[in-house]
Amino acid sequence: MSAFLEQIEPLKQAALNDFTGAPDLATLDQARVVHLGANGRFTGLLKQLGQLPKEEKPAAGKEVNLAKQSLEAALAERRAALELEAARPANPTDFTLPGRRRPLGRLHPLTQVTEDIVRSFRKIGFVVADGPEIEDDHHCFDALNTPADHPARDMQDTFHLPTTPRLLLRTHTSSVQIRVMQQQPPPVRIIVPGRVYRRDNADATHNPTFHQVEGLYVDRGVTVGDLKGTVEFVFRELMGPETRIRFRPHYFSYTEPSFEIDFSSALTRRMGREWLEIAGCGMVHPKVFENVGYDPEVWTGWAFGFGIERIAMIRYGINDIRLFYQNDLRFLRQF
Ligand code: DAH
Repeated sequence: MSAFLEQIEPLKQAALNDFTGAPDLATLDQARVVHLGANGRFTGLLKQLGQLPKEEKPAAGKEVNLAKQSLEAALAERRAALELEAARPANPTDFTLPGRRRPLGRLHPLTQVTEDIVRSFRKIGFVVADGPEIEDDHHCFDALNTPADHPARDMQDTFHLPTTPRLLLRTHTSSVQIRVMQQQPPPVRIIVPGRVYRRDNADATHNPTFHQVEGLYVDRGVTVGDLKGTVEFVFRELMGPETRIRFRPHYFSYTEPSFEIDFSSALTRRMGREWLEIAGCGMVHPKVFENVGYDPEVWTGWAFGFGIERIAMIRYGINDIRLFYQNDLRFLRQF
């Protein structure tokens, strides 16, 4: 073997050792320059080729080029491996860790009670209606036949807004009775869950804002019997099948006759009482029908309104209304 050919293998091995042993991309590039750069050691061989005797050139050229190709392949392979390593994150994901659980929320107890009430009324053909929380005197009071000297119309009892004409935060959901009847001809069969406002100080049983459900049924030949049957059906669904209902005469300006509803069940006995007052109701006053353009000689109806907080408190044995609004998870998680 010629002296030239004998140099190939050691130079190639030296380069291969440096390439495969390079710990990072910078070192690898230095090794490339040392061996394959313009003045590199292996490159020197290529330069010597030209000085070889003519008959040795083809064989020597072939050997040198094969060696060069294998060096370039080794270089590329090592570079790819080092690049992959460099791209790996410093703190790789530990796929054996348990996944992150999203804590599952739940519905607020007031929402749960409201949905139960709505579900019961839907079974007997009622639909949910809605109205604005910012109201005017007409819908909140006048159209409901509520006289100008009624205490609910007093600045002391109601949140009035400094607007002209005067607006207020609705004191009850009864205003939606008027809005619905103004918009559609009878028959009407609606319930209205919603937020209401009163100028009260917060204590265990009062809060300046709370929730009511209003009900209104208008058709031909509607009676107090229909009212009582409906209320009994819904309260038995809500408070248990042995629930009893009692009507006591009362006064509301938009119903005649008017009643307060008491109920009795295991829940009231748990609270040490046989009967608990739960709602106001009555037969829609003819004046109210006149105010919305319904003929009171043709149409009859009943209406009721009750507080959602009160029902939730009795149902769950809650003794302070303020707990509903504090968003304390220790409270909310119990429902
Ligand atoms: N609006 C009354 C209140 O806030 C409740 C009420 C009583 C509603 C009698 C009615 C009704 O629809 O007929 O206390």
